[in-house]
Amino acid sequence: MNTNSLSNKRFAIIGVGNIGRILITRLLAAGVPAGQIVICDADVARGQASAAEFGVTAVTLTDEAACTADLILLSPAPQAVPAVLQSLSPRLRQGQVVVSFAALISLARLENIAPPGVAVVRVMPNAPSLVGAGLNPVAYGATATQETRELVTAVLATLGDSIEVQDEQMNWCVGLSGAAMRSLLPVLEGMAQSGEAAGLSPAAARRVAAQVMAGTAVLVLNTDLSFSEMKALTPMQTVDETAVTQLFYDAARSAKDKMDAIQLKLEGGVR
Ligand SMILES: NC(=O)c1ccc[n+]([C@@H]2O[C@H](COP(=O)([O-])OP(=O)(O)OC[C@H]3O[C@@H](n4cnc5c(N)ncnc54)[C@H](OP(=O)(O)O)[C@@H]3O)[C@@H](O)[C@H]2O)c1
Repeated sequence: MNTNSLSNKRFAIIGVGNIGRILITRLLAAGVPAGQIVICDADVARGQASAAEFGVTAVTLTDEAACTADLILLSPAPQAVPAVLQSLSPRLRQGQVVVSFAALISLARLENIAPPGVAVVRVMPNAPSLVGAGLNPVAYGATATQETRELVTAVLATLGDSIEVQDEQMNWCVGLSGAAMRSLLPVLEGMAQSGEAAGLSPAAARRVAAQVMAGTAVLVLNTDLSFSEMKALTPMQTVDETAVTQLFYDAARSAKDKMDAIQLKLEGGVR
């Protein structure tokens, strides 16, 4: 199933903040007709403003279009997800697919709420999906069929790349991918500032920083050189590499530990 196959599916996007807006943008860019997308936000005015901006329809959770969509994409704050799914559940039917983009809310918790036969999927979103360059780890619930997987794969292809993980790995994914752009931006910011200090225009300095990072990533993706071998291609060292490596490892690890602790609290010790 490719992204073309999405054009006859109906989508409900619940929670229209950063991620909800990215989902609308990418689905429209992939050719899903605006008439097949409904959106719902706790802030009704915000939902209506987004609907007007994108040409989609704003609804409430109780509207039929919200609960009969083929794919229901949940992108509110994590603590709102169980209640949203709870209120949709009595009207969900076999064959529908619910995809939660929220951190912290486990597949088991979602599966406990959704009625039998409704496929439940969890994705850890990544903001570069806005330009189709995200990396969105996905975990499938027990009721996900081959058809569910193909459909969700097609949705994720509109956002960029994806990798299947176990639900237990999602808290690692927060620091590894979900929030990682936030950790990498200061690196680019520092590089851009140094470009400006060298006399480049802000736009040129930004381009140099971004292209150097993108080029490095492409080298990692497109060769099987080890990290040491790639480092040897540029003998001059400009940072304390051991410290930088440790910094990023610790950042992802501490994000995971933080998520584990909040999740335990939210789920009352039950995962
Ligand atoms: N942004 C990222 O890079 C990122 C990365 C990893 C995971 N995530 C996950 O993605 C989800 C969305 O993140 P975000 O950055 O898009 O958050 P956001 O910008 O705060 O957007 C969430 C939106 O959902 C609305 N909302 C809250 N409760 C709702 C309800 N019951 N029904 C409908 N809408 C509701 C919020 O309205 P109010 O503001 O009025 O409450 C807000 O407009 C979160 O669960 C987060 O864990 C995001």
